[in-house]
Parts: sequence; C-alpha cells; structure tokens
Amino acid sequence: MGMRERLRHLEELRRKAESGGGPRRLEQQHARGKLSARERLDLLLDEGSFVELDRFVTGHRGGFGTVEEVDFDAGVITGYGTIDGRLVYVFSQDFTVYGGSLSEAHAQKIVKIMDLALKNGAPVIGLNDSGGARIQEGVVSLGGYADIFLRNTLASGVVPQISAILGPCAGGAVYSPAITDFVYMVRGTSYMFVTGPNVVKTVTHEDVDMEGLGGADVHASVSGVAQFVHDSEIECLDAIRQLFRFIPQNNREEPPRRETADPFDRQDEALLDIVPDDATKPYDMRDVIRRIVDDGEFYEVHREYAANLLVGFAHLGGWSVGIVANQPAVLAGVLDIASSLKGARFVRFCDAFNIPLVVFEDVPGFLPGVAQEHGGIIKHGAKLLYAFCEATVPRLTVITRKAYGGAYDVMNSTHIRGDVNLAWPTAEIAVMGPKGAVEILFRKEIAEAPDAEEKTRQLESEYRERFAHPYIAAARGYVDDVIDPRETRPRLIHALDMLRNKRDENPWKKHGNIPL
Ligand code: HXC
Repeated sequence: MGMRERLRHLEELRRKAESGGGPRRLEQQHARGKLSARERLDLLLDEGSFVELDRFVTGHRGGFGTVEEVDFDAGVITGYGTIDGRLVYVFSQDFTVYGGSLSEAHAQKIVKIMDLALKNGAPVIGLNDSGGARIQEGVVSLGGYADIFLRNTLASGVVPQISAILGPCAGGAVYSPAITDFVYMVRGTSYMFVTGPNVVKTVTHEDVDMEGLGGADVHASVSGVAQFVHDSEIECLDAIRQLFRFIPQNNREEPPRRETADPFDRQDEALLDIVPDDATKPYDMRDVIRRIVDDGEFYEVHREYAANLLVGFAHLGGWSVGIVANQPAVLAGVLDIASSLKGARFVRFCDAFNIPLVVFEDVPGFLPGVAQEHGGIIKHGAKLLYAFCEATVPRLTVITRKAYGGAYDVMNSTHIRGDVNLAWPTAEIAVMGPKGAVEILFRKEIAEAPDAEEKTRQLESEYRERFAHPYIAAARGYVDDVIDPRETRPRLIHALDMLRNKRDENPWKKHGNIPL
C-alpha cells in the first residue's frame, strides 16, 4: 500500500473512530437535551486547541482487522487542550457507545491522561456521562474504576481536578467525582446515586424518581455533593472555564494574576451603611464582598448549600483570593454542621493551591440544639477549625460585626495563624452576646428585680458598652487595627502585597488526622 492509500485508510479510520455510537444514537443524545462528547470538548476548550490521544484504542485485544470490522468501543474521548491558553487534560465520556460505560480500554485511556496531568502539573477535567461499569466486562471494569480512584487520590492537592456530571453517574462511579475538587451538575440531565430508584424501592420501600434521588438540585442544595448547578450544559462548561481565572495549574504554582481597571484604593461609601445599627438585624454579606473585590465579581462556590456561610473566589488588586464569609442574612450567620463542612473543604482547596484566604466575619457562634449535637457538630465544627489551623497561605480577616465564642477562634483568628486581622468599629468580640451573657452572670439580680425586663435591658446595655466592641481585642493585638469600612479594599490589597512572600510550614508528618 502506498503512502496516499495509507492516508486514505487513516482518514477512514479517523472518521469511524470519531463517529462514536453512530448517527442514530447521536440523535437520541441530542433529543435528551444533551450535547455529544465532542461538542462538549469544543465548548470547554479554546477553539482548535484539543489534541486527541488514543483515538484508535479498542476493547479488542485480538488484532485489528479491516476498517469495516474494527469497533472503536472505548466510549471515552481523551486528550489535552487549553483554557485561556493554559494546558488542561480532559476526558469526555461518550454515552452513544455502550452508554458511556467504563470498560478496561475506557479506564486505560482515562488513566493515561491522569498520569500525564500529574507528571506535567496540569489540571484534569472529567466530563462524565456514563452507565457505570461495563457490565459485560465484569471485574475488569471494576478494576478500571479502582485505577482511576487511586489516581484521583494521588492527584488530590497536586493538580486541580474538576468533574462535570452531564448524564448518569451511578454506582461506585460516583466516587471518582466525589474525590475531585469541584463537581458541576446540570438540571434535568445529570444524576448521581450509589443505587438507583429501583434498588431504593426494593431495599427501603421509598418511592423516588431519579431527579428526586440524585438530581442536580438535590446534590447542590441538600447533600452538598455538587458545588455548582446550571440550567444547561453550555452554561456549565462556560462556568468551568471561568473557574480557571482563579486557580493555578498545580500546587507549586501561584494562581494567575489578573489585570483590573478597578482602582486599588477605591473606597465605597455604601460600606458605611451596610451593617445595621441594630445588632440583631440581618444584612447580606454578598453586598460587602462585592463592594470590596475587583469589579464586584464573586465566583461563588456551593451557593445553594449551607447558605449561612459564603465561600468562593474573587480578585483583590489582581490577586486571586478564596473568600469565606459568614452570611448574617441566613440563620444569623451561625456555624452549623453543613457550613463547617462547606467551609473546611474550601479552605483546604485554597491552601493546597496557594490561594490566599480572606474571611469576612459576622458570627454569633455555633448553632445550639439536639439535632446539631447528635449530628456531630463537635467533630464537624472541628473540621473547619482544623482546616484554618493548618493553612499556610496568606490569611486575612475582616470582622464586620459579631465574633462570638468558639466561632471567633475558628474564623481565621490571629491565634490560629491568621496573618492580618482587621475589625470595623461595629465589631463585637466577646465570649458571647449580651443577652446570653447577662442571663448567666446576673440571673439572681434579674430574678430579684421589680421589673426583670427593664433590668435585663439595662444590664445588656452595660455589657455592650464594656465588651461588645473591638477595642479589648485590639488592645491585646489580637486585632491588628480597627478601620473605617471604606478602607477595607485598600487595606486588604496592601496586606496581600505585604504577604506575597509568606513562608510558613507545618511540622513534618505523613499526614494529619483531620476529624472526619
Ligand atoms: C454496558 C450499558 C451500561 C453498562 C448502559 N448500557 N449502561 N452497557 N454496561 N453499565 C447500554 C445499554 O445497554 C444501551 O445499549 C445503551 O447503553 C444506552 O442505555 P439505555 O439504558 O438505553 O439508556 P437510558 O434509558 O438513558 O438509561 C441510562 C442508564 C441505564 C440509567 C444509565 O442504562 C442503566 O441503568 N444502566 C446501568 C447502570 C448501572 O447499574 N451501572 C452499573 C453501576 S455499578 P443499547 O445497545 O440498547 O443502545 C458501577 C460499579 C462501579 O458502576 C464500580 C466502582 C467501584
């Protein structure tokens, strides 16, 4: 066969390999409101940047045969490309080939790009759309999953790993996305569950459909398994591209710095009026964040889950930062089990990938109650504390109002290696709020007073004057400065500049034992 003929043969093979499960199945995929595996890659990556690897991999081990005979049945497209010019490794499962199920060949293709990502220090993005283990291959397929889980774990904290769930993701298959850093889902088309509705019905007699059991909204707001939920695949893939504005390629690199026209010394007058005079009144901490960060842009993570704590990315003076903020508008910004889990995971991501942490604090304490205690608020709250304690990235705190009790310590206090701690004049830093404190300290006096309510009010006001302000903490140096809220942006940017060469490390250990 001459070269030209060989090239024609190659072209035929390429076309066949790229056709996936064929036009009928592609039509079905589109009819379900889903894009094809290749269309997804086109949207995710910079135009024309995708380089495919292992296009010709098949599950057959007994020779190749003719073009007509060969079956490109791996069911996954793998390779690398760029997002804003930066290298990423990708796999995109093809539901049109055996339902995107994971065969030995399929797993080997994914494993190859994961190994490359680790060696070359670049993120891995997985576009999941699969019926799980390829049933016909039995244990070989299970082994393939295990090979992937191992690499997910070894890559954790070394390169960012992102999972988009764009179809079913069932059984043990869910554990690969679960180990990755961020899970994106799409309403109406993506599902994750360990066992589907039929098995649930048999075992627990519960009647539930796919959406109710493991749909995007369930995982974004109830289980917390997904950090992001979108209405369409197009939005979802674009959101993944946006994430890359904030994160570095690997754990040895800094996140990209971003140009901004937003003046470093901008002072926002509205910050003077956001915190209500009445300390029991709520306000939206998102307003505070947006008025301080570059161009008002806050890339919120886990938005629908544990809304009493906000976490997400922003830029300050061009520096990428991870923001953790109590949200007084929800449950008064209290810390509970869900918000502790949310915060801890985010803090650890930022610390692993050299993203400075900026905390906005207005927290009345940990949530009391039987449900919280029995649910393990002690061990879960400890996760957030542990995560902050071990973080060695630059760490800034702004106390806007309440910083009470253990929550004061937990929320990035100076004592646990917070670097710069600023308080607004409205800050209240004490063991507990006025009401709780006077009821404990003056129970007898209140009981004996002719007008108990009046007495309580008077004692609360005295307590407030003596303790509910930032100056005791500032007198000890626990707070570095009490600032005009309008100065918050320039002060934070200065602090980040000052800390840019921060070097801190933890004692040598194999790994810590975070209370799981
Ligand atoms: C082989 C599979 C498959 C699988 C789907 N297909 N799942 N082939 N192995 N696991 C095939 C179907 O036979 C069908 O082929 C085509 O893919 C499309 O599937 P449909 O069922 O027609 O599609 P749909 O109605 O959309 O249903 C999708 C589905 C369903 C919900 C994913 O296919 C399903 O329930 N599949 C099995 C899911 C499952 O239990 N997987 C194992 C989980 S355990 P044809 O030729 O008819 O078009 C697991 C263990 C992981 O994954 C191990 C980790 C430790």
